Amino acid sequence: MKNVVQINKGIKKLKINSINIPGDKSLSIRFVILASLSKGKCIAKNLLMSEDVLSAISIIKKLGIKVKLNSKNCEIYGQGLYGFRYKKNIILDAGNSGTTARLITATLMNSNNPIKITGDSSLKKRDMLRIIKPLSKFGLIFKKNNGKLPLTIKGSKFLKPIKYFEKLGSAQCKSAVMIAALFVKGKTALKCLPSRNHTEIMFKNVLKLPIKLKKNKHHHLIELKGMKDFKAFNYNIPGDISSASFFIVLTLLLKNASLTIKKVNINPSRVGIIKVLNLMGAKIKYLNKKLYKGEEIADLQVNNVRNLKSIKLNPKFNSSAIDEFLLIFLVAGLSKGISTFEKLGELNKKESKRLDWGFKILKMIGIKVSKTKNNGIKIWGNPKLKLNKKFIIKNYMKDHRIFMLSVIISMTLGGKWVIHDADCYKTSYPNFLDTIMKLGGKIS
Ligand code: S3P
Repeated sequence: MKNVVQINKGIKKLKINSINIPGDKSLSIRFVILASLSKGKCIAKNLLMSEDVLSAISIIKKLGIKVKLNSKNCEIYGQGLYGFRYKKNIILDAGNSGTTARLITATLMNSNNPIKITGDSSLKKRDMLRIIKPLSKFGLIFKKNNGKLPLTIKGSKFLKPIKYFEKLGSAQCKSAVMIAALFVKGKTALKCLPSRNHTEIMFKNVLKLPIKLKKNKHHHLIELKGMKDFKAFNYNIPGDISSASFFIVLTLLLKNASLTIKKVNINPSRVGIIKVLNLMGAKIKYLNKKLYKGEEIADLQVNNVRNLKSIKLNPKFNSSAIDEFLLIFLVAGLSKGISTFEKLGELNKKESKRLDWGFKILKMIGIKVSKTKNNGIKIWGNPKLKLNKKFIIKNYMKDHRIFMLSVIISMTLGGKWVIHDADCYKTSYPNFLDTIMKLGGKIS
């Protein structure tokens, strides 16, 4: 069969005890977009070469920006805030990447021709109204298509700064507003629910832009003045904690396993998975902690733990673990006791309906689960679970995280697995299967 992986056997013992993780996806996409708006040559090392990042690169190239890629570096020759070339009838294709689609839209405030933005069939189902609303307030003109891609956009000469309350806890929305504000004279003010803060850190520490950041008990407050060109910059992208998480969980669940995962970004707005797993008894440690341009980086030391315990998760952890819940649900399913997770409606707005898929996959492998009223899930853990049946994973909207989750389940619990759409993991982690095989996994 084409484009299908088959796995008949799990890993018995890890063959190596340390791995490197590719560059962070959020930081890689931000590097590409912000470098394209800077003045001069920017160089990134360890840029993630995944399909999502390549979509961002192909878009800035279509907008007239020169990019040179080689095995070590990515060079982007920014032309300043007003440097894009807006050819007639161009179509920008963000592929599977919500971050690319939403952040790129915000760079088009000056376009003098209508520009179409589109994406793959999964991205076309995702909500764009969340950025259409604030960006229209600035003056950007949209042809709406029900708030879904494809969207047609035209810039405006009459842009004005805005005050905006970001109520979803979405870093993509917040970042879209922040990028749009760069093109507008005057002060834009944002009040947001917490979400990953890479854009704030880059604006302040890398681009040295005039930005004020404050926090109150429930919100993050951002003030930003636009129309200030910024210089070219270099950036060494740290490892992606979301990618590392698959190997954290693999190690945690494999008997006697121990693994060091090198140079991972441990920005506090991203380490929800580590906090949650440690509350469940995981004892994951940070080694060699460093600060790099405002981002924290460390090696992660993970060991197998036999007596993981259940958790009633406080939703305050949700945003910092938003991409890792499928893995957290799996660990809950193998821990002692009943776990509950609440207020996770945003999970159903990702590349696939991830809350529904988490429920479906746990049920399929024989873990008792129920949905709760508050967009939540209740999981009855079974620490003794082992699998020997056949499992088929398909029609999951080619969601890279569902593919990788399925591989981790097969490697740790056994069973015979047939997983379709076997190249979708390349959107975020092109060498995922290579790393699985280096660790001892057998895949055909
Ligand atoms: C991202 C933010 C999150 C996350 C996505 C990447 C980013 O999405 O799920 O994978 O880079 O800003 P939301 O901002 O929609 O929550």
